[in-house]
Amino acid sequence: MELSIEKLTVQFNTFLLNINELHFNDGLNIIIGGNGSGKTTLLNGLIGYQYSERDVLFNDAPFHLKEHVTYIPQLLNRPDMTVKDFAELTSQKSSDDLLKRFSLYDLKDTSVSHISGGEFKRAVFVQAVLENKPILIFDELEEGLDVKYKKEMFDYIKELSKEKIVIMNVHDLTLVLQYADKVIGMKKGEVAFTTSPECITEYNLTNIFNVPLEIIEYGRKRLIVL
Ligand SMILES: Nc1ncnc2c1ncn2[C@@H]1O[C@H](COP(=O)(O)OP(=O)(O)O)[C@@H](O)[C@H]1O
Ligand SMILES: [Mg+2]
Repeated sequence: MELSIEKLTVQFNTFLLNINELHFNDGLNIIIGGNGSGKTTLLNGLIGYQYSERDVLFNDAPFHLKEHVTYIPQLLNRPDMTVKDFAELTSQKSSDDLLKRFSLYDLKDTSVSHISGGEFKRAVFVQAVLENKPILIFDELEEGLDVKYKKEMFDYIKELSKEKIVIMNVHDLTLVLQYADKVIGMKKGEVAFTTSPECITEYNLTNIFNVPLEIIEYGRKRLIVL
C-alpha cells in the first residue's frame, strides 16, 4: 500500500507548511520535530481537514477518509459512556480481548469521563484498532502513558503496522529509534530529512530540535542522550 502526498501546503498567518513528494508505505512511519514545526498541521492537511493546496493519493487513486483512515488527534473530548461502549462505538465488534490486553477490562462499566488520562488513551487506542482501517494516524498517542503501556502499545502497533500504514507524531525519541521503520524530520513547515532509524545522525536531530543531542550505540540499540 502507498499513501502519497504529491503536494500539500497549509498557510497560517506567518507559518507555511510546504510538502512535496512524501510517501508512506506499510509499516510504522514516525514524524518528529520541535514544537510548532508543523507535525499536527501535516496530519490535518493529509486527511483533508485543513489545507490550502492538496494532492494526496492512496494506491494511486483518490483517498476516502471514512473508508480508509482512523485518525486520533492529540486532544479528544470524553463522552459520558462506559469504557466498553466507547471502545465499540465505531465498529460494533466485541472489545473484550483488547480491553483485557490493555488492562481496561475491570473498568469496562466505568464512564470514560471518570478514568485517568493514560486509561483514556488506551481506550481510544482499542476503539481505533477495532475499526480495522488500512491507514492509522495518531498524533502524540504516547503522551500520558507510563513506560509499561508505552512499550505494550508500541509492540502492538509494530505488529499491526506489518499490514497497515501507520503514521504517528512522536516526541519520545527512544521510542522512535526503537520502533520506527521510517522517520520523517520536520523543521519550520518542511521535511528536513526522511530516513531509517538506523541512519539518523546526531546532526539530523540537532538540526531539527536546535539543541545538541548525542546518539550512543549500546549493543544493537541506539540511545539518545541530552
Ligand atoms: N488554526 C491555526 N491558526 C493559525 N495558526 C496555526 C493554527 N494551527 C497551527 N498554527 C501554527 O502553525 C504552526 C505549526 O503548528 P503545529 O502543526 O500544531 O505544530 P506541531 O504539531 O509540530 O507542534 C505553529 O506556529 C502554530 O502556531
Ligand atoms: Mg502537534
